[in-house]
Amino acid sequence: MKRALVAGLVPAAALGALAAYDRLQRRHAIWHNFPVIGHGRNLVELVGPEMRQYWFARDSEEQPFNRDQRSWVYRAAKQENTYFGFGTDEDLEASPNWLIVKQAAFPLPALPKDANRLPGAKILGGPRGRPKAFRPASVVNTSAMSYGSLSGRAIEAINRGAAQAGCWQNTGEGGLADHHRHGGDLVLQIGTGYFGCRDRDGRFHLGRLVDLVGTAPVRAIEIKLSQGAKPGLGGVLPAAKVTPEIAALRGVDAGKDCVSPAGHSAFGDVSSLLDFVETIAEATGLPVGIKSAVGELEFWQDLAGAMAEDPGRGLDFVTVDGGEGGTGAAPLVFADHVALPLKIALARVFSTFAEAGVDDQVTFMASAKLGFPDAALLAFALGADLVNVGREAMLSIGCVQAQKCHTGRCPVGVATQSPYLAAGLDPALKSVRFANYVAALRHELLCLTRACGEVHPALVAADRLEILDGRFGAASVGELFGYRPTWGVPGADRRDELEALMSDACGTDACGTDACMSDTCGTGACMSDPGRSGA
Ligand SMILES: Cc1cc2nc3c(=O)[nH]c(=O)nc-3n(C[C@H](O)[C@H](O)[C@H](O)COP(=O)(O)O)c2cc1C
Ligand code: SF4
Repeated sequence: MKRALVAGLVPAAALGALAAYDRLQRRHAIWHNFPVIGHGRNLVELVGPEMRQYWFARDSEEQPFNRDQRSWVYRAAKQENTYFGFGTDEDLEASPNWLIVKQAAFPLPALPKDANRLPGAKILGGPRGRPKAFRPASVVNTSAMSYGSLSGRAIEAINRGAAQAGCWQNTGEGGLADHHRHGGDLVLQIGTGYFGCRDRDGRFHLGRLVDLVGTAPVRAIEIKLSQGAKPGLGGVLPAAKVTPEIAALRGVDAGKDCVSPAGHSAFGDVSSLLDFVETIAEATGLPVGIKSAVGELEFWQDLAGAMAEDPGRGLDFVTVDGGEGGTGAAPLVFADHVALPLKIALARVFSTFAEAGVDDQVTFMASAKLGFPDAALLAFALGADLVNVGREAMLSIGCVQAQKCHTGRCPVGVATQSPYLAAGLDPALKSVRFANYVAALRHELLCLTRACGEVHPALVAADRLEILDGRFGAASVGELFGYRPTWGVPGADRRDELEALMSDACGTDACGTDACMSDTCGTGACMSDPGRSGA
């Protein structure tokens, strides 16, 4: 009897101890939020590849991000080895739409493991002479994701991580909250709800916007026309996520769906949009641009045409979002069927601006599954100057792709307003993960670029990439998307500027300092490019 009691008590005590440990530890949100049973996920994860290999999906099959992609983000975020062994498990010749990067016969020397300095090729706001124009320190930045759709702790983690990685965080359309104020640079997004810069009737209020940007390190303003996952619809924050704090920030009722209108009340056509842009740029001194998914082409033709005709008015940047982009909540039919996917969308917009001769005046940003080196390089070849990452940033801070963002019951505290679930996310730890991920993405993007014999991804032309057709054929990206040879790559002047920008450092923080580990530093044989000075 006594023995049976002891036999029962020991496992119970062990489970109790494990539960207490899980609640107290901060490294794994899922253990914290689901003590003991959360370990089941790790077990499944451990044996999952083998089970799937024999029974279920291949590593490249799941959507929106397959296991290989998620593993890459998780490993990069934890600074683990991102190499894969034994060779590709893709059947390349039988894979339609497979991207091939054509390496140079004489690539540039490899960079040290921590090299990831990769500033933007264009000065944001420079061509229009905005007083607060600047060169983005990072070609990888975060895409718009509001406080509301993400928890305060997730917003804080990304903000702190952005400061560490030297990139910016886009506030999303939900306004600028205290969670955004942890040292990271910001791009302030203005959606149709004008949250944070609206009057009592919900109309845009310029004075409030000016006051707001003065309170935080806002570097640019993005006017959201639409996003790829739900173009033609306004933003929706489901009732479960509209807490009193969020309601107060947005000026809406707590506990009810917060729906912003489909269109803007401050402008209604290309001309009034450009006036709106100029008004904001003049009042704030900041670069101003738009974010949009791509549907009808007339809008873009009118926009580029108006900029070409009247140099007095224009956008500083355009963010093109692909139809495959993410969302906190959207009807499935909009996510699946409305707006062009990113590559087609970006190519159409870039070509329209290039045809009108105004592509050099605009910084092109792109988003929709671009948080991987190959996808980002393709976007650069199509004319993107910067790539924005949304869901990949979420993965780096612990998202397990449970796809419950719209329910408020995110198990890892990323996309929820439940204090219990959010408590599992430690902003200090996850900020480092996010920063590591951004650094790894920049590093691998640089490595790919150098394999092509260039120092910056902006210099990689569309013809350097090919797409396989799955039938032993291939076409260059330039040919497929109808690009002229000069499109999407800087002209001679800007190429020199860019090479100079990249040549003064091998890309590590240590470059040119006593901490540099390389014998060539400062000798004129810097690893970034043979024959150039390294210091
Ligand atoms: C949780 C969540 C919230 C989002 N909120 C916004 C938003 O407020 N404004 C916006 O323009 N896009 C929003 N988006 C879209 C992203 O900014 C981005 O355009 C899209 O997810 C594609 O990038 P990705 O594939 O890197 O996630 C959101 C996406 C997610 C996943
Ligand atoms: S874990 Fe699931 S619910 Fe949470 S953010 Fe990721 S996809 Fe959304």
